[in-house]
Amino acid sequence: MEIKDVPDPTAGSGEVVVKLHAAALNHRDLWIKQGKYAGLKFPLIPGSDGAGVIQARGADVDGFTLGDEVIINPSFDWGATESAQGDGFSILGLPRDGTLAESIAVPAAQLAPKPQHLSWSEAAALPLAGLTAYRALFARAQLKANERVLISGVGGGVASFALQYAVAHGARVWVTSSSDEKIARARELGAEGGFNYRQSDWTKSAAAAPGGFDVVVDSAGGDGFGDLIDLCNPGARVVFFGATRGDPSGLPMRKVFWKQLSLFGTTMGSPMDWTAMMRSQVSMEPPLVAARYPPSPRPAARGLALMGAAASSGRSCKNDLNRRARGRRPTLPKHSPAHFFHPTWA
Ligand SMILES: NC(=O)c1ccc[n+]([C@@H]2O[C@H](COP(=O)([O-])OP(=O)(O)OC[C@H]3O[C@@H](n4cnc5c(N)ncnc54)[C@H](OP(=O)(O)O)[C@@H]3O)[C@@H](O)[C@H]2O)c1
Repeated sequence: MEIKDVPDPTAGSGEVVVKLHAAALNHRDLWIKQGKYAGLKFPLIPGSDGAGVIQARGADVDGFTLGDEVIINPSFDWGATESAQGDGFSILGLPRDGTLAESIAVPAAQLAPKPQHLSWSEAAALPLAGLTAYRALFARAQLKANERVLISGVGGGVASFALQYAVAHGARVWVTSSSDEKIARARELGAEGGFNYRQSDWTKSAAAAPGGFDVVVDSAGGDGFGDLIDLCNPGARVVFFGATRGDPSGLPMRKVFWKQLSLFGTTMGSPMDWTAMMRSQVSMEPPLVAARYPPSPRPAARGLALMGAAASSGRSCKNDLNRRARGRRPTLPKHSPAHFFHPTWA
């Protein structure tokens, strides 16, 4: 990874150029750097998440003006159906050049106004992970208030959003993590408890204390997936969007059918999911940001190393030019679960 001078982006028809104030890292950036992502092409400007100010407009751009503060939806060309993305779907930062740059040209349709109560780094941390967690919980698993939820690997970016959303929705949440500190932080954020998955008997504790779960959110996969199936209540929904630990060596089919479980795969989110998630932000606490780095290659590499070591609690934000915004945050209205009524439930 290196920093290079490249020609300034220009805005085509329907596009704007956004001067980026902050960009955030996702596990996807790590997979790409490690050469483990489908459709790799180099050279590439990676980065799916960013927030900044509109500095140029192409023809036929409605609704945004120069100087507007915006965040970028990295889910491009979703397609016509809510149930799954179409063939033209892509994610910003591969194949299209991404946000680890000073500025970027994107279709204006991919923009949303930056929520006022978020700093630049908090705004940049939101799009990819926030959208993925939102669709997983509300469009796919259709989480209801008071249901018992287990979120695995809560130190992950998407998992930390899932925790915040599920708690705000009135669900009862438990988490797993490799770190007791992250479990303690999750409890501060509203989880009722947690289990360290590095301890061999964690599933026994989970089965004994809270009992079964109605919804399980996972992105680790691997052979631990079978433990999650064991912890499901009859009729539970398991939603997953990643396989950080690879595929499980086997799927316990008998347990799945006997307990009448539903397995939901999910990826990113549709424009409808994006709009619903952005609306919900008015009553949400800000995204968790684990670390902030200035925009140069060495700190960016450190950020990726931090993710690789699973050492982060929350997202790693690469560039924060507005830390003082924290002191100016307005008081948020108390959350109402109605903010999480997903349009597809109507
Ligand atoms: N399909 C999609 O649209 C989509 C979108 C976003 C992410 N993803 C995928 O989802 C995964 C997570 O992404 P991310 O950006 O949230 O990653 P991340 O911020 O790097 O977090 C990864 C987390 O995985 C957890 N983990 C590692 N091994 C685990 C295990 N054996 N059991 C339970 N948890 C374990 C760790 O949690 P602790 O630190 O708490 O131990 C770690 O912090 C990646 O595989 C990514 O590619 C897919």
